[in-house]
Amino acid sequence: MFTVAIDGPAASGKGTISRAIAAHFGFAHLDTGLLYRATGRKTLNGTPALEAAQTLVAEDLQGDELRSPEVAQAASKVAAMPEVRKALVDFQRAFAQRAGGAVLDGRDIGTVICPDAEVKLFVTASDQVRAERRWKELTFKGHKVTVDEVMADLQERDRRDSTRADAPMKAADDALQLDTTTLSIEEAVAEAVKRIEARQ
Ligand code: C5P
Repeated sequence: MFTVAIDGPAASGKGTISRAIAAHFGFAHLDTGLLYRATGRKTLNGTPALEAAQTLVAEDLQGDELRSPEVAQAASKVAAMPEVRKALVDFQRAFAQRAGGAVLDGRDIGTVICPDAEVKLFVTASDQVRAERRWKELTFKGHKVTVDEVMADLQERDRRDSTRADAPMKAADDALQLDTTTLSIEEAVAEAVKRIEARQ
């Protein structure tokens, strides 16, 4: 068992780095944000948040609309509810136990879900760079948004995610901080690979 915990704010590059690490080392990958997004999406249809979290099934984690700004905001709201977080803990910890190694990315992986992870990274980037990255993704998918709107959305979520009482977004004391503002994807991945190899 070998667990890599990757946390950081929205559009910091943690998803891209996590996927690349998983492919490089043959680890399983769980994007834990999807659990909160799928829960949030159900609440937009009127399902109470706790019930939505408790009844998640694999198919709920599929679909392009999970990536929409509306669902992202709903995710961040349900993610502030302790009972919702509690309902999702066991699944994430079980995933981290996978025999062949696992990468989990989110906000509280290194601090709460997998405090004993072999490697912890906290990935950041400037607000401007994160907003531009997310704007490109959303525009490519056909969403009509401006960079300023995307920036406001990210900042609102960051504020909610880092100030909530239960499992706020923050770097674990033993996490390596990786600022991707001026790094290419290849450079950021190479840094992460180096860190993991040093612990294997
Ligand atoms: O990572 P992503 O942007 O998809 O996450 C969506 C939302 O889910 C975040 O804004 C955050 O509120 C919540 N989340 C969380 N803990 C995690 C992963 C995501 O609170 N481990």
